[in-house]
Amino acid sequence: MIFLNINNLNVSIDGKKIIDNFNLNINQGEIHAIMGPNGSGKSTLANVLAGNEDYEIISGKIIFKDHNLLDLNIEERAKLGIFLAFQYPVEIPGVNITPFLHASLNSKLKNQKKEEIDSLSFAKLLRKKAEELSISSDMLKRSINTGFSGGEKKRYEILQMSVLNPEFTIFDETDSGLDVDALKIVTEGINKFKNKNNSYLIITHYQKLLDYIKPDFVHVMRNGKIVKSGNISLASEIEKSGYKNF
Ligand SMILES: Nc1ncnc2c1ncn2[C@@H]1O[C@H](COP(=O)(O)OP(=O)(O)O)[C@@H](O)[C@H]1O
Ligand SMILES: [Mg+2]
Repeated sequence: MIFLNINNLNVSIDGKKIIDNFNLNINQGEIHAIMGPNGSGKSTLANVLAGNEDYEIISGKIIFKDHNLLDLNIEERAKLGIFLAFQYPVEIPGVNITPFLHASLNSKLKNQKKEEIDSLSFAKLLRKKAEELSISSDMLKRSINTGFSGGEKKRYEILQMSVLNPEFTIFDETDSGLDVDALKIVTEGINKFKNKNNSYLIITHYQKLLDYIKPDFVHVMRNGKIVKSGNISLASEIEKSGYKNF
């Protein structure tokens, strides 16, 4: 099975080419990091993978778990197991965490033709996961992200990830603007839930995050394409001398 293969992808916005003949292959269980200067197209790539329709796909192919991803909408992709963690999580007043996550998980299970989970069992499962992340049971009764502190929003995001267990998670600069404690929540959360079935694409500016997560591959993106691929030492090189060598 092909897990994720991006082949000669070209994307533009308002006639301007943002992703330029982009190629990337990610296997099941791998963690890839993409670094690159502002404006190189990293967020565009993340959004195109998740299914945001504001972008014009000129050509190319994205295969995910043997599905032609570009034929699927944002919801269908989420059900297949793609999860985009936002840089700034949105507050959703009036939408309570517990029923929301319950419905989301059941919709995924249904899509996989698996048995849905009842409210009581789900509440138990959620409490257990929340405990592992030091999330209080009071927080589970609240509306999504509404009035949450920065650190709480991060915790909630990791909780959502652990409940839905997405096969492919994209973090788009989830670390920017985080203090050391929040950064720890994110990295510990990823390290706790990563397993050989799930893959990650981590977009970041900081070596520090990658030191904690230890990606299998690091790529440098510039002007809409990957200009260099390597291992974690590439991140140290960037930390030292910036992007001028690429
Ligand atoms: N919605 C948009 N409308 C117009 N231009 C955009 C839009 N989103 C991104 N761009 C442009 O696309 C380029 C790449 O942006 P982006 O993908 O956000 O880069 P990065 O995440 O690497 O900083 C930038 O020149 C940016 O101005
Ligand atoms: Mg960006």
